[in-house]
Amino acid sequence: MNTRDNHFHLGIAGACGRGRSFRAACDALPQVRVHAVCDIDTGALPATADLLGASEQYTDFDEMLEKSDLDGVIIATPMPLHAPQAIAALNRGLHVFSEVPAAVSVEECREIVRAAKSSGGVYMMGENYTYIRENVLIKELVKAGHFGTPYYAEGEYLHELKGYDEHRLAARGLPPRQVWRRHWQSGIDGITYGTHSLGPILQWFDDRVAHVTCHGSGHHHVDAEGRPYAQDTSVMLCKMAKGGLAKIRMDLTSDRPHALTNYQLQGTDGCYESARGPGQDFRIWLRSRCMGENTWMDLHELEEEFLPGEMKAAAAQGAGHGGSDYHELVEFIDAAEGRRKPSIGLHEAMDMTLPGLVSQQSIAGNGRSVPVPDSRAW
Ligand SMILES: NC(=O)c1ccc[n+]([C@@H]2O[C@H](COP(=O)([O-])OP(=O)(O)OC[C@H]3O[C@@H](n4cnc5c(N)ncnc54)[C@H](O)[C@@H]3O)[C@@H](O)[C@H]2O)c1
Repeated sequence: MNTRDNHFHLGIAGACGRGRSFRAACDALPQVRVHAVCDIDTGALPATADLLGASEQYTDFDEMLEKSDLDGVIIATPMPLHAPQAIAALNRGLHVFSEVPAAVSVEECREIVRAAKSSGGVYMMGENYTYIRENVLIKELVKAGHFGTPYYAEGEYLHELKGYDEHRLAARGLPPRQVWRRHWQSGIDGITYGTHSLGPILQWFDDRVAHVTCHGSGHHHVDAEGRPYAQDTSVMLCKMAKGGLAKIRMDLTSDRPHALTNYQLQGTDGCYESARGPGQDFRIWLRSRCMGENTWMDLHELEEEFLPGEMKAAAAQGAGHGGSDYHELVEFIDAAEGRRKPSIGLHEAMDMTLPGLVSQQSIAGNGRSVPVPDSRAW
């Protein structure tokens, strides 16, 4: 916390896009002041500054770091900017909250680790799907031993994004927002955006991925210029360091209703299958709670008993992504002010980011098994 006025002074980069969605979370935290906003969208920036209550506006990230008196930054810019901006902020001793994934290459991951190790600032990655109620509940049930030993999991992120190419946006009269997704998310074979699916699973397993193998389903879609997207569905098999297995499926081009939060978990004493669409059940079988081996129960019946109190906080209501944005920001401020370690600090962020990057090497090598570096050894 800054001694000048007992507030945590925050700068938000990419404020006119995803950055804006932290408004409700910032509003719910009286000690947080959005001091500066940064975005290259000069048309939208003044209104965004108003909305977030920021007194300073910048179009250049380095200039914001140079001129503004900040305690920390939220980096909510397009994916290829996460690492360079995080490193620049860490080099100035600022606390960093980075959007997902942490970086777009293994080398960038190494550079973040190097910068964080020599910085006084805390690095945290905002993998908000780990704060989704049902995912937290499963984590608590695993911790309490109700799954026995968890050994298999699945995560899927099925999010058709073809609309975000420059020509399609122009045809719809829309500004070129999110065009970066055409290259960085749906233009590269392999798992380019895997942390939402893998993040909660790593927490359930309390483990990291040691090896990855990845295959794709081929190319069945082209953009407005006739260029194929990356392979439609990619599946990465993650062999965990302690022996478990996870299957991560990502698909950003297939035509179908969105399904961003499909998860499954199997343990020696329990099994979980999330709802695959609106109106479906989040079903769980636990040896300790269910009458027979073929009887499911509704996960939400266990909420009262197992969901941590802070997850029920009224302040989270209304914050983005079902309250997740609130919980992760609370954790960031707590970590920056030394009250606790972030659950997705430097190495956990690398554990969630590196398998997807390594999967791009695997798919290029016809699915060969590739080891995933452990950033703790860097
Ligand atoms: N965790 C989540 O649930 C979630 C949801 C949406 C997006 N995201 C992530 O947030 C990031 C942004 O996604 P988005 O959907 O808001 O994209 P977007 O393109 O809509 O917004 C990005 C913003 O960054 C700005 N920008 C671009 N270059 C900049 C620069 N050099 N300096 C400052 N600002 C710059 C753009 O003008 C834009 O306003 C991505 O990394 C994405 O993966 C995460």
